Amino acid sequence: MNVFHIVGARPNFMKVAPVMDALKTRKHVIQTLIHTGQHYDANMSDVFFEQLRIPAPDVNLAVGSGTHARQTAEIMTRFEPVLLEGKPDIVLVYGDVNSTVATALVCAKLGVRVGHVEAGLRSFDRTMPEEINRLVTDQLADMLFTPSEDGDFNLQKEGIPAERIFRVGNVMIDSLVRLLPEARRQNQNGLPEGSAERHALVTLHRPGNVDDGVILKRILQALLEVSQDLSVIFPAHPRTRKRIADFGLHADQLRIVDPLSYLEFLGMQSRATVVITDSGGIQEETTYLGVPCLTLRDNTERPVTVSLGTNVLVGRDPDKLRSEVSRVLAGKAKKGTIPSLWDGHAGERIAALLAGQTTC
Ligand code: UD1
Repeated sequence: MNVFHIVGARPNFMKVAPVMDALKTRKHVIQTLIHTGQHYDANMSDVFFEQLRIPAPDVNLAVGSGTHARQTAEIMTRFEPVLLEGKPDIVLVYGDVNSTVATALVCAKLGVRVGHVEAGLRSFDRTMPEEINRLVTDQLADMLFTPSEDGDFNLQKEGIPAERIFRVGNVMIDSLVRLLPEARRQNQNGLPEGSAERHALVTLHRPGNVDDGVILKRILQALLEVSQDLSVIFPAHPRTRKRIADFGLHADQLRIVDPLSYLEFLGMQSRATVVITDSGGIQEETTYLGVPCLTLRDNTERPVTVSLGTNVLVGRDPDKLRSEVSRVLAGKAKKGTIPSLWDGHAGERIAALLAGQTTC
């Protein structure tokens, strides 16, 4: 079986690693890794390949940044000849980034089978580009690998036949399970000074939070207040750093640092007093780690992190953020449990399904 894997942006890398690993042990499987180049900075891409031990991409489409239309179109244009030449039996696409939907669309038009890893997640908020990417990709996919029951339910409601839906668990947690011991052993060299102390770990990059100067200023102000009680470490996405500069905002008391590597970030997450984020994957990682997570969004496509895990949606309300941080500091943080099948073996389940034999 000839399998193509598509990755493009940072959150794809921890998802492809366990699937490639699991397929490596299967006979008669040839794997081709295609990087669209959506993320290209060394600290957004290369370091993840090294630490997650992902083989170097066979093909790099080097599309770079652009508007949504331009980036999506560029990926499609550059991917089409690669697909025509490689003739894979199935193309696996991951998550919900522009690279996911762009390549799924090319496959569907050429009649090539698509498997969507992390299918079925819905925020029901179509102002998020990722929600559009999820909806379209799931309509096009032939095999839909879901991380949790809500995913199966959403897909069935959208008319996807049950026989295409496979609940396999959370592949991103596979990478976490494998590398957590190493991340915990990491010494502090190279990490922001004082990161072993009690800290709030912050990430922020959603266009809805960072592209509007008024909203971004309000969030930074709330974080500055948090920094009076515990140190705030904020590895900033390039988009966010640029916006802070563009809007002339200042947040000197926050430790704004460059994006961290996978192991550095995981180590810091596991030691954090609280994580404050608008990311999707971090809501899941904190749930697994049992670390309190305050999500700066009104909705989540990962509802099990709220119903079962440690996640609390605080929206963009500074008062709610402050009161939830106080709860955490008072030792009253929400306790959670780990959703089923978030056990480090999701990649193996996908490999087994692809090989036509299920271990689910
Ligand atoms: C993308 C995903 C988002 C994911 C995020 C994780 C989409 C629609 N969004 O958002 O779901 O949570 O990745 O990081 O696919 N840039 C750099 N260097 C890079 C990459 C980007 O400087 O290596 C800057 C550029 O200014 C670029 C901006 O970041 O214009 C946004 O990059 P883009 O890939 O369009 O979306 P992300 O915000 O990274």
